[in-house]
Amino acid sequence: MRHPFKVWRDTADRLSPLRILTLACLAAPTIKALIDADDIIHSARPVDNLIHRAGFWTIIFLLVALAVTPLRRIARFNQLVDVRRMIGVGAFFYAVAHILLFTTDQMFDLTKVASEIIFRIYLTIGFVALLGLTALAVTSTDGMVRRLGVKRWQLLHQAVYVIACLALIHFFQQNKSDVSVPTFAAGLFGWMISYRLLVKWRKTRDEPPTWMLLALTVTISALTFLCEAIGLGIAFRVSPLRVLQTAFDFDLDMIRPGWLVFGSGLCVVMLDLVRARFAKPRRAARPTQPKLATGKPAA
Ligand code: HEM
Repeated sequence: MRHPFKVWRDTADRLSPLRILTLACLAAPTIKALIDADDIIHSARPVDNLIHRAGFWTIIFLLVALAVTPLRRIARFNQLVDVRRMIGVGAFFYAVAHILLFTTDQMFDLTKVASEIIFRIYLTIGFVALLGLTALAVTSTDGMVRRLGVKRWQLLHQAVYVIACLALIHFFQQNKSDVSVPTFAAGLFGWMISYRLLVKWRKTRDEPPTWMLLALTVTISALTFLCEAIGLGIAFRVSPLRVLQTAFDFDLDMIRPGWLVFGSGLCVVMLDLVRARFAKPRRAARPTQPKLATGKPAA
């Protein structure tokens, strides 16, 4: 049986290249911050710089954890599910670093930290998201899967969608001047949620056909453009239609979030086309069940 802390080994206690690659990706933002240490220390607000980095990578890893289910199905690469928990726990560690850095920025005055969380709505929302992420991280062990039972464990872990929504709201609210990155992140989240709804609606384990993935991509990209236009229209008191008209003004310095969502969706469509050629028959992977360290499914 694998030692629970030897996360680089798979359930059969073999060295896992996929797990090692995942660990390297999770560590990369920290290593990058260490490489940039000199620039960070000499910047105007070093702690603020680190708060932003930690917050950014929390949301990125949260979204990557959510991307595992669509990607493992579309890429016909079921092993991906083996690293989903690891990515989720990685997101939690960055969230903890994020709030610890915030506390450092408040000179460790816990009364001030608490009052900021209570009176600033974007911090309240971030804090609720952090509490949710903590509950998921604490219950991520094999022991907790056994104790809760698979059904209850899976139900609890559905909370990740609400947590991701709260995290995105927090991201939007603290970034009032330029919401293009949060809009892109929200577009990707919308794609992943819609993909899950599509699979549920079709009531079959077969993969949705490529044309459906393309239709999904076009719809979500159009919605991203629309929501961005409405948001900018309200914020800057201009007509959303005028904002929409600028969708085809291409500027390489600032590619609009709708196009980025479209490009990402097209990459997934292409992946589906390629995999459909090599992986036959066109059946989806079995529904996920949390696996215990023994390699057996939890139930
Ligand atoms: C799961 C929970 C959380 C997530 C995913 C998250 C994510 C983020 C993100 C993405 C940013 C913007 C980073 C960027 O500019 O690129 C951010 C900024 C920030 N977050 Fe969080 N956050 C969370 C919880 C919290 C908590 C609990 C606090 C403090 C109580 C907090 C305080 C802040 C602060 C102070 C900023 C910078 C705001 C500014 O400079 O105006 N966050 N967070």
